[in-house]
Amino acid sequence: MARRKKIYEGKAKILYEGPEPGTFIQYFKDDATAFNAQKKATFEGKGVLNNRLSEFFMQGLTNIGVPNHFIRRLNMREQLIRQVEIIPLEVIVRNFAAGSISKRLGMEEGTPLPRPIVEYSYKNDALGDPMVSEEYIVAFGWANQQDLDDIVSLALRVNDFLSGVFYGVGIKLVDFKIEVGRIWDGDFMRIIVADEISPDSCRLWDIKTGQKLDKDVFRRDLGSLTDAYTEVARRLGVLQAAGSATVTRLVH
Ligand code: TMP
Repeated sequence: MARRKKIYEGKAKILYEGPEPGTFIQYFKDDATAFNAQKKATFEGKGVLNNRLSEFFMQGLTNIGVPNHFIRRLNMREQLIRQVEIIPLEVIVRNFAAGSISKRLGMEEGTPLPRPIVEYSYKNDALGDPMVSEEYIVAFGWANQQDLDDIVSLALRVNDFLSGVFYGVGIKLVDFKIEVGRIWDGDFMRIIVADEISPDSCRLWDIKTGQKLDKDVFRRDLGSLTDAYTEVARRLGVLQAAGSATVTRLVH
């Protein structure tokens, strides 16, 4: 393939310029990081699985009318996406206590929350993605109140969709993170779901056994990350669609 211009390289993905204006190519790496990149490893095949899984979830969101950046998958590791202006926030939705909320409030992991809780971190690696309030977001101009209403409504729709999809395959969606960005149709601005949706950015527990099937397997040294993600893909029927022989060869 012709040399392409790299737009941005993050911890788990690379963005290249796309074939047409307003598009990017998103490449999924096998790298995993945790605790703001203090812990790093490479898992052969993770990028292939996350490319497929993110395609599956974004396509599902499109099918129920939730706008997102996904256009189409190009190959095992790359997808064509719409260029968005990323809002520098990690939008987190929690259904059950786990991770940082458990630590912050001393809540046992797995405690059901009274309702889905939406919270924000400011996307800034040097600062370790600190939690911020709506006051901070509006005061510093990252988004206005109308944008925040749209972001909360998007996040809750994604939550209902993902919770249902995972429930159908025996998995509890404990929490997840999305990123959102702006696109323009002329003067009309819309906020859409961007980045990725994959076991890198969700907490997924088997409903019966409680087994973790997400990046906590790596964060907490609980076993094979690739096996966990392969299990999620298998249950969702994503591996079959990928041609299981190819993916199985790549991830094992
Ligand atoms: P937390 O409990 O560590 O705040 O994480 C909440 C959710 O957000 C969890 O599903 C993991 C996800 N997440 C990311 O995807 N990226 C991040 O940088 C962090 C801190 C969390």
